[in-house]
Amino acid sequence: MKRTIAVPSPLPPPTQCNGIHVGIIMDGNGRWANARGMIRTAGHRAGVRTARAIVESATRAGVGTMTLYAFSADNWSRPTPEVGALMRLLRRSLLIESKRCIENGVRLTIVGRRDRLPSSLVSAIQEAEAATAHGRNLHLRVAIDYSARESIMRAAALAGPEPLDREAFARLLAQVNHDPFPIRDVDLLIRSGGEQRLSDFLLWECAYAELHFTRCMWPEFTEKEFLAALSEFEVRERRFGGVPAQAAS
Ligand code: FPP
Repeated sequence: MKRTIAVPSPLPPPTQCNGIHVGIIMDGNGRWANARGMIRTAGHRAGVRTARAIVESATRAGVGTMTLYAFSADNWSRPTPEVGALMRLLRRSLLIESKRCIENGVRLTIVGRRDRLPSSLVSAIQEAEAATAHGRNLHLRVAIDYSARESIMRAAALAGPEPLDREAFARLLAQVNHDPFPIRDVDLLIRSGGEQRLSDFLLWECAYAELHFTRCMWPEFTEKEFLAALSEFEVRERRFGGVPAQAAS
């Protein structure tokens, strides 16, 4: 597959990550900012810079799909000024980053509810999705006002009484998540910030995800650590409920 990013990575990319789906819970922005005497919003701004670097690294490494958790359905309970600042930051980031996505062949789509978002953010989402629709190097999904449980419930409501297989259910999930096609299960889930939980993120898609938790706060998460997580993923034995390959033969 042709990659169009001009700047080569200074680090050797892992070799077997082609096409995988990486989910990231970008946690720790607020604590990172507070520890430096800054307001939480400054941490979110720094978090956007980290997200940009990691998306570019993922594209170079051949990752096929990346889903970033930017704003959960439960994040509405945060103080109003922080929610407002996040909405403005997301809008501005989508407008700026979609240009970079076009240059790098990245398709950007947004997962989650749209009916509670400011209309200016919804317009930015629509513009970014339309402008990047031809990207083939990486499918970047940004989860905004997202709840995995809500997605699953809405897909189930669409299903009606007929029995479904997993593939058919995945198609319904794609429909409620505004995905252009059914999404591959998450192969590797990374969470920064020291907590070890899923926080209502991609619960269906993470059924067999390999988990990588790091104490590093998201603004400090580096390409080096990302590539190390990919390399560690490559050597994990994934059995999907089966037996080790050696035992099977
Ligand atoms: C969690 O840290 C982070 C968020 C709720 C927001 C993350 C959003 C971004 C980094 C913007 C990404 C935007 C694009 C377009 C990719 P926290 O506030 O929960 O930190 P804490 O746990 O230290 O309080």
